[in-house]
Amino acid sequence: MITVTMQLRSREQQLGCALALRFLALVPWGIPRARALDNGLAMTPTMGWLHWERFMCNLDCQEEPDFCISEQLFMQMAELMVSDGWKDAGYEYLCIDDCWMAPQRDSKGRLQADPQRFPGGIRRLANYVHSKGLKLGIYADVGNKTCAGFPGSFGYYDIDAQTFADWGVDLLKFDGCYCDSLEHLAYGYKRMSFALNQTGRSIVYSCEWPLYMWPLQKPNYTEIRQYCNHWRNFADVYDSWQSVKSILDWTSSNQESIVDAAGPGGWNDPDMLVIGNFGLSWNQQVTQMALWAIMAAPLLMSNDLRHISPQAKALLQDKDVIAINQDPLGKQGYRLRKGNNFEVWERPLSDLAWAVGILNRQEIGGPRSFTISIASLGRGVACNPACLITQLLPVKRELGFYEWTSRLKTQINPTGTVLLRLEETNQDASKSLL
Ligand code: GLA
Repeated sequence: MITVTMQLRSREQQLGCALALRFLALVPWGIPRARALDNGLAMTPTMGWLHWERFMCNLDCQEEPDFCISEQLFMQMAELMVSDGWKDAGYEYLCIDDCWMAPQRDSKGRLQADPQRFPGGIRRLANYVHSKGLKLGIYADVGNKTCAGFPGSFGYYDIDAQTFADWGVDLLKFDGCYCDSLEHLAYGYKRMSFALNQTGRSIVYSCEWPLYMWPLQKPNYTEIRQYCNHWRNFADVYDSWQSVKSILDWTSSNQESIVDAAGPGGWNDPDMLVIGNFGLSWNQQVTQMALWAIMAAPLLMSNDLRHISPQAKALLQDKDVIAINQDPLGKQGYRLRKGNNFEVWERPLSDLAWAVGILNRQEIGGPRSFTISIASLGRGVACNPACLITQLLPVKRELGFYEWTSRLKTQINPTGTVLLRLEETNQDASKSLL
């Protein structure tokens, strides 16, 4: 239930505040956004599907033909991405993770797909994926081996970039296992970035460089943004609430270092969406979708599109939530405050709109009400002097017009999130409709 109370203030007072605060809103932590990798890609966060969390390194096509990492799995997903509305919703990149390779390079030093599991090779798979209007992603590693022990790209950066381009690959996830020093890590990530650009093919470059740096040294995000289209910062997502919470906690504790690094062309990557699997309750799935939208995260689902509930599908295909994730302003949101087991997150959007997510972190009891003062949102400029508020999640509901001085009361389920969109309106128009 939503209630609202209003106090009237003079228009001058409101406009004065609005101007001062609007300036502040433009400089969240005062750090100018650095130049992005200049390949023209990922102007909004990448959307697609990535096999790792759901299918991992299942090599056993004898025992589990439908779940092993094989061309059949990707062809089936490609078909479903088109027939079940995923492509139309924006999910475009179908991405292979680790364990696609044969254990050895070929006689010319090129990586090759496992011949039993990918009998047609990656080029034929890429052609198939392209014929569906989708793009293909692949995986390799900056070090001597991939995390699962397949051949690494160290010493082969140019050959591997050219091989991927020749096959028609559109995205490279470049992992950081088995790299012996910070210098090699930086050299390898930069070198592969150049090598991909040298091929002349448009290939989104997804890095894990900062994740592997953090234990040893604070990453330089200005530099990382110049080489990568997105970058993982933190541990692998698992199919559990514990994992999603830990990613949110890491992101908010480090937001002053990472939020300003994000923008068109380069994004922080909190890892895959695990919505539609086994480990998250409905409310927790809502939380992941809402917060990944606020974090301007790449939306890479890892689930089984052959077996997914209509509810999870509708959540993943929610066009209003996707519009927040894909907002062209390209500013990442942040946690505004926490207390009493609630967290308030917000994200500035284009046209002076804002997204606000209110998360109930309490894991006991029932829905709890939370009342928020509108003036405390959006650095004081959201909803000033008035705005139209729409609740997008857990269900879509128009909440009506609110003034800057008003308060909004909402109810949030345990581990759930209420996602709101605040659209600026002019005062006269809003008054006539109140
Ligand atoms: C690392 C990455 C994961 C996945 C696995 C594959 O753990 O962080 O996302 O790619 O390797 O082995």
